[in-house]
Amino acid sequence: MASLSKVALVTFGLMNGANAWGALGHATVAYVAQSYLSADTATWAQAQANGPRHSTSSTQRTTPPTDCNVDYDRDCGDAGCSISAIANYTERAGDGRLSSEHIEEALKFLVHIIGDLTQPLHDEAYEVGGNDIAVTFNGYSDNLHADWDTYMPEQLIGGYALTDAQSWANTLINEITSGTYKSEAASWIKGDTISDVVTTATRWASDANSYVCSVVMPNGAAALQTGDLYPTYYNSAIGTIELQIAKGGYRLGNWLNLIYHTTVAKRDVEDLVERDAAPVGRDFLPASRPLSRAKIARAAMEGSCCNSGKRDHAH
Ligand SMILES: *[C@@H]1O[C@H](CO)[C@@H](O)[C@H](O)[C@H]1NC(C)=O
Repeated sequence: MASLSKVALVTFGLMNGANAWGALGHATVAYVAQSYLSADTATWAQAQANGPRHSTSSTQRTTPPTDCNVDYDRDCGDAGCSISAIANYTERAGDGRLSSEHIEEALKFLVHIIGDLTQPLHDEAYEVGGNDIAVTFNGYSDNLHADWDTYMPEQLIGGYALTDAQSWANTLINEITSGTYKSEAASWIKGDTISDVVTTATRWASDANSYVCSVVMPNGAAALQTGDLYPTYYNSAIGTIELQIAKGGYRLGNWLNLIYHTTVAKRDVEDLVERDAAPVGRDFLPASRPLSRAKIARAAMEGSCCNSGKRDHAH
């Protein structure tokens, strides 16, 4: 089951319409997240497999990158943005009235977008998130966004296969568990709550966006167009890329656990409590209603009926 779940989460991350982190980054985020899922969350996510694919939306922002912060009211716009979409899909992922197909769609979206949000240029509208900043990287003419998404991560790892992602994820998990990220990992998820998704996701976006000023283009865009970005600029950026991928995976794992344990499992427990209420007076109560078909199906999909205790995600 564990390895099946692993495959599912990675599949969730490889969506059409990607607009931040390439295939390597997304798969790595999914593998990192996977290792922090509780067993029950993994079982639940796996049970929703094989739904339709969905494309993502992105934040709209027009202020220049000298001002690095994200303001939901100012930046999100009436048509919605990544943050409002995370709110929507978080609610849908935990909504037991929806079909498993729709829940899977919501999970896929979350796997994708929570990873995307840690890419600094995803949260930046300046020059279309850097897509319009033409640069040279290791002899190739490309654009700054693509270098952050894809080419700098691939330079580091030396490939983009799932096995590359898995081994990068293992390195990052070690850093979180016992290495350089150990002391700060708790701060990556501090205050995250599904009861206020907008505030939580705005904090994620602001955190990523701050790197636009400090790391992505500390001296403005023109300074990046005077020579090859490899190796000097790459060396200044790659540590932030690793940090952000690790953060995305850790946050995503925690987020899925929060959805499962505070919404899905809690709802199932409430259903049980409702049925078993007032044991003393039980004979005087009308016969309890039979489980609806949907509930029976859900219980069957979840497999482990009696094993939904909360588990700390931190190892
Ligand atoms: C939430 O997501 C569903 C499914 O994609 C979509 O139909 C709906 O319009 C979304 N609602 C909001 C408020 O974004």
